[in-house]
Amino acid sequence: MDVPQLFSLNKECFLRIIEISIIISNPRLRLHVEVDTKTANMLLQHIGGLSLFDWGKQLNGCGVGSDRSQRFMGMRGLVTDHSGFQENIDIEPTKAVGDELVKLLRDRLILVENSAETQSLVAPMANLLDQERLGSFHQRVGQYVLLDLREREPWRAWQNQKFSEDGLTLIGENYRQIQEPFFDRNFTHKDLSGLRVLDFGCGNGYFSAKFSDAGASVIALDSSKELLSLARVNYSSRSGLVFILAETISDSIQYLSSLIAKSIDLIYLQDTLLLLLNPENGIPSTILSGLFQAFRRVLASDGEIAAMEPNAVFWLAGRYGKHEAPYAVITEYRNHIFNVVPNLGDMLKPLAEAGFGLVKYCHPEHTDPSHADYAYANEFPIWDFFKFKAINR
Ligand SMILES: C[S@@+](CC[C@H](N)C(=O)[O-])C[C@H]1O[C@@H](n2cnc3c(N)ncnc32)[C@H](O)[C@@H]1O
Repeated sequence: MDVPQLFSLNKECFLRIIEISIIISNPRLRLHVEVDTKTANMLLQHIGGLSLFDWGKQLNGCGVGSDRSQRFMGMRGLVTDHSGFQENIDIEPTKAVGDELVKLLRDRLILVENSAETQSLVAPMANLLDQERLGSFHQRVGQYVLLDLREREPWRAWQNQKFSEDGLTLIGENYRQIQEPFFDRNFTHKDLSGLRVLDFGCGNGYFSAKFSDAGASVIALDSSKELLSLARVNYSSRSGLVFILAETISDSIQYLSSLIAKSIDLIYLQDTLLLLLNPENGIPSTILSGLFQAFRRVLASDGEIAAMEPNAVFWLAGRYGKHEAPYAVITEYRNHIFNVVPNLGDMLKPLAEAGFGLVKYCHPEHTDPSHADYAYANEFPIWDFFKFKAINR
């Protein structure tokens, strides 16, 4: 006689209470199901496993559940809540009972046969249409863009998660409450007349224009034609602000070689160093050291490189529980499952090798106490700020 397959509560899951329900979450897969206490009890009572038929019998009539998982939300802001938990539900989710509930628990991998089942899911996608595996963070961004948004212009993912369509208004959560206030406080709240800035990876030029408005003369360079054309539409009338297209690192090195040595006071990189170190095509550049050496050549003797980059530990943090009291944090520090943010060592090493020393390191703070993310973002900083100076050798 065949031994029936047994299914039990996935050991990766954790349970938390909200009001009179229990949320069962799998943080790695970002899947969440809300169940009633009877179902939760049943799952714990039969931790050794039951056949699907027996689960159907046990849960029939006594268990109710609903899906609280959210689709990957790349365009809603890469730094908003990454947990995938649907917190505010506008429409009551469909309640599942009996066999439907068993199916939901199976689909959301709350009930599993063994751990290999979840392991196979976190494998890289076979291709961008592969919806079986979770894949890497970038693959999911790619899939979201490809399938859901019919977006043929990947550069829009950067632009639209942070800015209004015309690029003139910063809309992204956390960018407004953390990044921009820190930037303004440290750079553009003073007179920058005479300062020569290279905004490397300037995107749509929003921050380059702020440098320019404060009086600096600015070279704003980016590899994206589209973002630069938006920048030119918005800011071409500014004097002392030039936009340079350099599609590859090699183009950038070539462009920088045309500048006079020591002619730049500040090289600014914002959310860009990570892309130089972990490029979106996944192939690290072999000539990055040449770029950092070029930075060194153009930087004035007392000049600085400043970079504001996503924090390697907390940027991808999943958050469970209340904003002020999260109790799960997924880090990217050593295990680069999503492979987006280089860790501190990855970030500092190439600059150190090019002769730059770290002179400042801090975490930009959230500035709006009335915002839901205030406590969380200040406890688990979302960006790091670095300043480097050339070391005399
Ligand atoms: C996340 S966006 C940040 C843009 C801008 N600094 C801001 O804060 O709004 C990263 C930018 O880096 C640019 N980028 C990526 N690789 C680059 C490279 N090798 N050279 C120049 N720019 C690059 C992208 O086109 C993109 O505009």
